[in-house]
Amino acid sequence: MTPDPAELLDVACSVARQAAELVRQHRSHGVTVADTKSSSVDVVTEADRASERLIRSLVLEARPDDSILGEEGDDHVGTSPVRWVVDPIDGTVNYLYGIPEYAVSMAAEVDGRVVAGVVHNVATGVEYAAVLGGGATRDGVPLRVRDVPPVQQRLVLTGFGYDREVRAGQAERVARLLPRVRDVRRMGSCALDLCHVAEGAADGYVEEGPHPWDWSAGALVAAEAGATFALLPGSLVAPCEGQPGSVVAAAPAAGWDEFTALLADCGFVIEPRE
Ligand code: IPD
Repeated sequence: MTPDPAELLDVACSVARQAAELVRQHRSHGVTVADTKSSSVDVVTEADRASERLIRSLVLEARPDDSILGEEGDDHVGTSPVRWVVDPIDGTVNYLYGIPEYAVSMAAEVDGRVVAGVVHNVATGVEYAAVLGGGATRDGVPLRVRDVPPVQQRLVLTGFGYDREVRAGQAERVARLLPRVRDVRRMGSCALDLCHVAEGAADGYVEEGPHPWDWSAGALVAAEAGATFALLPGSLVAPCEGQPGSVVAAAPAAGWDEFTALLADCGFVIEPRE
């Protein structure tokens, strides 16, 4: 039987809330860096690990046959068509510094397609949720992207990876983008950035290199609120096999073509050579 997306969303919201509570409790006892990953500035805290362990055990308790892809752990391969794509804390550096912009992000895929997603801002408790074809909400209130202004009046969110060389390329492209738009923001959580596009707090988001756990849930929230979301070809190899491109982009559908033309002009999007 095909799983019901609304039921998957209920599981996602319940698990994300419990994980967020755990992350909050950890913070009140002080944040410790447990390890570094791709570079010395790519940190993982004890709370990232504890949150992912909790999410894994709660998901498997509710749905023992599902698969899980998480940022911090070994993949769990189940037998059902459902795979959970989980970021136990998206925005870990904000968490470390106490900037209230970090989230638990959980997406449920059925046969490879995201059908439900939740992004729970741990610091504020604000919860963004969506079901494929069922719209997106913030704390239960329906969300809609903002009206599209001319390109030069758009506020664009972006992010940077942890690798120095990757960052140097990202900085060059952002330097080209900045004079052409209203302004650029680097908030620190890809999942929340996508939700900000969904709620009309930004006109677009672009970043090269985020992983599926960063964008899967937020992408559904953005798309269900009226944005176009795409993985476009860029200068990096896409982080997952079969992913069409490494550049993660979202913008209100009505302004999408101008947005992607701008991204191509600024060097983010590169058409693959024949
Ligand atoms: C990071 C955040 C950040 C983005 C990075 C991500 P993490 O995720 O989403 O905004 O710019 O590319 O890696 O490491 O905090 O889970």
